[in-house]
Amino acid sequence: MQRIHKLDDVLVNRICAGEVVERPASALKEILENSIDAAATQINIELLNGGIKLIKIIDNGNGILDEDLPLALERHATSKLITEDDLYAIRTLGFRGEGLASIASVSWFTLASKPAESAHGAQIVSVFGDLKELRPASLNNGTLVEVKDLYNNIPARKKFLKSETTEYNHCKNIVERIAVAYPQVGFSLKHNGKEIYNLFPQDLLARIVSLYGAEYGQHYFSLMEEAGAQLSLSGYVYHPAYLNSTKNVQMFYVNGRFIRDKVVQNAIKQGFSGVLHHEHTPNYVLFLTIDPAEIDVNVHPSKNEVRFKDSGMIHSFISRSLRKLLAGNITQQDTIPNNSSVDDSFTTMNSWEKRSEYAQLAEASSKNVIQSGSAPSWSSSIHNDNNYKDSPLLIQKWLGEINNEQESQELFTTNEPIANETIPPLGFAIAQLQGIYILSQTKDGMIVVDMHAAHERIILEKLKVQLGMNSIASQQLLMPLAIHVSALQIEALEKHRTELSLLGFEIDVIGENQIAVRAIPLLLDDGKTEQLVIDVLNDMVNFGGSNAILAHQEELLSTMACHTAVRANHQLSIPEMNALLREMEITVRANYCNHGRPTWFKLTMRDLDGMFMRGK
Ligand SMILES: Nc1ncnc2c1ncn2[C@@H]1O[C@H](COP(=O)(O)OP(=O)(O)OP(=O)(O)O)[C@@H](O)[C@H]1O
Ligand SMILES: [Mg+2]
Repeated sequence: MQRIHKLDDVLVNRICAGEVVERPASALKEILENSIDAAATQINIELLNGGIKLIKIIDNGNGILDEDLPLALERHATSKLITEDDLYAIRTLGFRGEGLASIASVSWFTLASKPAESAHGAQIVSVFGDLKELRPASLNNGTLVEVKDLYNNIPARKKFLKSETTEYNHCKNIVERIAVAYPQVGFSLKHNGKEIYNLFPQDLLARIVSLYGAEYGQHYFSLMEEAGAQLSLSGYVYHPAYLNSTKNVQMFYVNGRFIRDKVVQNAIKQGFSGVLHHEHTPNYVLFLTIDPAEIDVNVHPSKNEVRFKDSGMIHSFISRSLRKLLAGNITQQDTIPNNSSVDDSFTTMNSWEKRSEYAQLAEASSKNVIQSGSAPSWSSSIHNDNNYKDSPLLIQKWLGEINNEQESQELFTTNEPIANETIPPLGFAIAQLQGIYILSQTKDGMIVVDMHAAHERIILEKLKVQLGMNSIASQQLLMPLAIHVSALQIEALEKHRTELSLLGFEIDVIGENQIAVRAIPLLLDDGKTEQLVIDVLNDMVNFGGSNAILAHQEELLSTMACHTAVRANHQLSIPEMNALLREMEITVRANYCNHGRPTWFKLTMRDLDGMFMRGK
């Protein structure tokens, strides 16, 4: 029988190291977090061979008193927690008192420090856990940490390390995560003697651009959403219509700590739902600030996870904030540049900056328009406000609703230049191109609109408003429409009667494989009823249970909207095209179609002049 004995400290540290120091990047993370906790304003990092050979960090933070240096390498020794209560309100990145002890047990480790209040510095060395004596050291105020030959004492473990390039990339990722969260801190990074970054203290956007490239200074929304004094979400979200597969910045922080969390990821996904192309992933740099008592960060030794006390509330706060932000209306400031030259990027940046200010008002203002009928001033010249108020939801009917059509026609036939302030953001239609696009002249150039995509979005948003207010208005068909369907579709129909009636359908089963459609949503009166009903039933078959139907509500509405939106080669008159443009201007999310593609783009006079080399 084996007797029980206590493990010695070095062995315990190595066991801990297994979790805390998975690879050079995790050691680097621990050390950088210590520098941030020590209020450093400049952190210099040097790596050799992907950090496997050497990680050296010098900071100008508060430093460690010489008599505390050996303690810093002891397990369960920290300056960051005093009482148990502190554990439930952590404001620092470190708190477990094991980071350095773990790293020191598996490397040739040097810790040197000089607090500003000490006349001299001191250093301590640990050779794979074997602590050497304290010595004087000469260094500036701050702390130096050197980690050499990680895992050289445990060859079995060292074998798990990947190639130098892979390990280096992990290290670079860690530096970037921390550099983004602390843009006010200067960072330099050298790898094998080559300077990779030299980042001066800067603001967040400049930091993101320095790390990820100029394109990250374009097409973004800035977010600042608060819920009470202790909860906020801020940062940048990239315009869904301008994402591509190379863009891959997904950074989420909770109280300055980078985390990956399922609740958060799901909330972000929901926040982007309906505006993101299925091949793209959302891009964002977001900071959640929350009362530390409302989270538990002591979930895993790597401290990459948090638990929220009220994860439902956090989920809805994040998804609501994003939905509100992404629902921005089109305004005069909108610029969607295409092949914009570099100096254009600043105008773009500013326009999106401005946009974010009013993006928060957009949802409210659009509701006003829909509910109270108060159209923006420039649209009153085209819409008759009263008619607009009475039946704003009937998309097919708005085409016939333009009472002062003549007035808008006159705007086009006149040779007088139109006063700039009366030109709405999306301008006035000039022509329909190839039966697909609307060409419109704007204040400063022209835009091209994908009419089907734009119309689809308008209908979808209207359906959503109707469903949100009560149920979708329906209309009885003069003659019920008999349709032949499958047994599965009948089953879906029986199962989802309530949902179908909320969506504006009234359908009965009249035979083994026969149904009779008696009423359909009022908005969707377009003669394609049979296909519409079949597609909706198919969606219901595919989505399954009623909860799933709720979750897929937007997809269902989107299917419905797609059936009604104007198709290619449907000839629109100028007033009809203008009516569509005006609807777009007051519709939330009108910048992207229901699948996340852009609905319009703009060429300014400046772009056109550039193409024709005018003024060169
Ligand atoms: N760069 C630094 N500047 C000043 N003090 C430091 C620095 N690095 C470490 N320390 C001191 O050493 C102590 C031990 O550091 P260590 O990383 O092991 O634990 P911790 O940061 O307290 O907790 P955790 O294990 O969660 O990181 C810290 O509490 C801090 O007082
Ligand atoms: Mg630490």
